Amino acid sequence: MSTSRTGSHVLLTGANGFVASHILSILIERGFTVTATVRSQAKADDVINTHPSWKGKVDFAIVADFTSAKPFDHLFQSAKTPFNYVIHTASPLSFQISDIMKEMIEPAEMGTTEILKAAKNYGSESLKRFILLGSAVSVLNSFEDMTKEGKPYTEKDWNPVTAEQAIERKDIILGYNVSKTRAEAAAWRFMKINAPPFDLAVINPDIIIGPMMHPIHGPKSINETNNFAIASFIDGTHKQIEGVTFPFYHFVDVRDVARSHVDALTNSAAASQRILLISGIISPQLVANIIRETFPSLRNRVPEGNPSQILPPGVHPTGWDMRVSLDILAKGTNEGSWNYVDLKTSVVDTVNSMLEAGVI
Ligand SMILES: NC(=O)c1ccc[n+]([C@@H]2O[C@H](COP(=O)([O-])OP(=O)(O)OC[C@H]3O[C@@H](n4cnc5c(N)ncnc54)[C@H](OP(=O)(O)O)[C@@H]3O)[C@@H](O)[C@H]2O)c1
Repeated sequence: MSTSRTGSHVLLTGANGFVASHILSILIERGFTVTATVRSQAKADDVINTHPSWKGKVDFAIVADFTSAKPFDHLFQSAKTPFNYVIHTASPLSFQISDIMKEMIEPAEMGTTEILKAAKNYGSESLKRFILLGSAVSVLNSFEDMTKEGKPYTEKDWNPVTAEQAIERKDIILGYNVSKTRAEAAAWRFMKINAPPFDLAVINPDIIIGPMMHPIHGPKSINETNNFAIASFIDGTHKQIEGVTFPFYHFVDVRDVARSHVDALTNSAAASQRILLISGIISPQLVANIIRETFPSLRNRVPEGNPSQILPPGVHPTGWDMRVSLDILAKGTNEGSWNYVDLKTSVVDTVNSMLEAGVI
């Protein structure tokens, strides 16, 4: 339940990221004790400079390289009080890379297995649950035929994509899909082989958009998904909507992603589950329509396209059967029901946060 658990100690990785900043904010608000990892002291300072009120409410630890030897052992061994929960979010999500294996797949997989190993070897009996921020890309099929809608995906589906396919095609999005699929599969395998005293829950969101509260220093700080799904329609990247496609056509707001992680810490229904997080359809045209309707001052910068052609011609993405996940999510709330932020609210709040930060 989403009540405050003051005193419980949470280890959160990648705390300066787009999603993790929202998770950290809720953890602090609900009174958890938080140890947060970032890759350098400068990044820790950046988080506190962005949110001065968080000073003294979070301890930072530096984990610079997931592929180094036993990167998390020290963290568990030296914890002032033992961790009760782990939320692992840190994983490469920049599409500006040159080596898919070394910069994306290996750090994602090793980060996940190394922190699980450290949790098992040095976490105490009080460690109850490990939450992995997974992705819908480890559930969906990267080779789905977009010209026709298939059978809706469920929590039982796994992406068949392989590293060889991503590397052979030099396709960074495929590489990302492999990184998330392999990291999640490795986590479930670890649990099966080692049967540690804590349980695992994996949360699998589709494209995440939403207002930004991570440290921002100019347009390059816009996170990858807000950039391709929203900013690119305002900053001149796309001169027209025709011909623009997304790799996926479902979204979820970052605030729902963050809330679901913190709720899942103490929700018994989340134990050993994959939890899908999908609010609804997103497309280039839908995003352009919302911005043009809501922000008259931006209208001239956003291509009009064909407002009634919601999906690109010939695109019929497969849907999601959300019944099992919705039931779990609802059980994690005080109200007993789960409601998603809708696309219009999410896009409008995201654009407002970009305007406030002066990055568009
Ligand atoms: N955004 C989406 O649409 C989406 C959808 C589904 C799942 N997810 C998952 O959500 C998580 C957070 O994504 P985000 O959108 O918040 O992205 P983000 O803002 O880029 O955050 C990624 C975080 O991971 C850290 N990181 C990246 N590569 C790392 C490495 N090799 N070693 C250590 N730390 C590393 C980053 O640290 P630096 O800042 O130091 O690079 C940052 O703290 C990821 O696991 C991602 O796969 C995202």
